[in-house]
Amino acid sequence: MRFLAISGSLRRVSTNTALLRAMASAAPDGIAVEFYDGLGELPIFNPDREGELTPQPVLDLAAKVRAADGLIISCPEYAHGIPGGLKNLLDWLVSRQEIPHKPVMLLRASSRNDISHAALQEVLRTMSVALMQETGIAVHLLGRKPDEIERILIAPEMRSSLSTALIAFANGMEEPG
Ligand SMILES: Cc1cc2nc3c(=O)[nH]c(=O)nc-3n(C[C@H](O)[C@H](O)[C@H](O)COP(=O)(O)O)c2cc1C
Repeated sequence: MRFLAISGSLRRVSTNTALLRAMASAAPDGIAVEFYDGLGELPIFNPDREGELTPQPVLDLAAKVRAADGLIISCPEYAHGIPGGLKNLLDWLVSRQEIPHKPVMLLRASSRNDISHAALQEVLRTMSVALMQETGIAVHLLGRKPDEIERILIAPEMRSSLSTALIAFANGMEEPG
């Protein structure tokens, strides 16, 4: 199984990115998690640039989504909304073949982002992904210092929880229906 991890934050010390990277490093045998690092290079979505005019960074993203058995997304909330960068990425995928029925697991690095979390689920449902809500995991890292975040994420119980979530995600997509 190969999963693609997408963070909605470009911040150098992003808690969402740290959570996704910790999950990648806790992946058990048989599961590989690649971190997508092209979010900041995507042009602003423009339907006139779909089809033959699709920009190369979008084609690169689409190839990674196509190759992945599932997507793992973690994103902050900005002004009660989905961060523009992540919404832009999703907008590029809306009309493409890669996204319908793609299994998606959502992670949360904050306990406060209920509005954007709900909005993201609505957007993903509208895009016809297979949202696997029961497999998501929340780790409250908001407001913590980088060294504290690292300590939390490398703790054996945390690595075990992250690994278990990955296995549940992988198993969930193998179940019929
Ligand atoms: C411009 C801006 C707006 C924000 N708006 C909200 C908000 O409406 N609700 C909220 O819970 N947090 C808000 N936050 C806090 C971020 O969601 C929070 O810091 C998050 O953990 C950042 O994620 P990151 O560490 O991955 O960058 C905002 C942060 C910024 C920079």
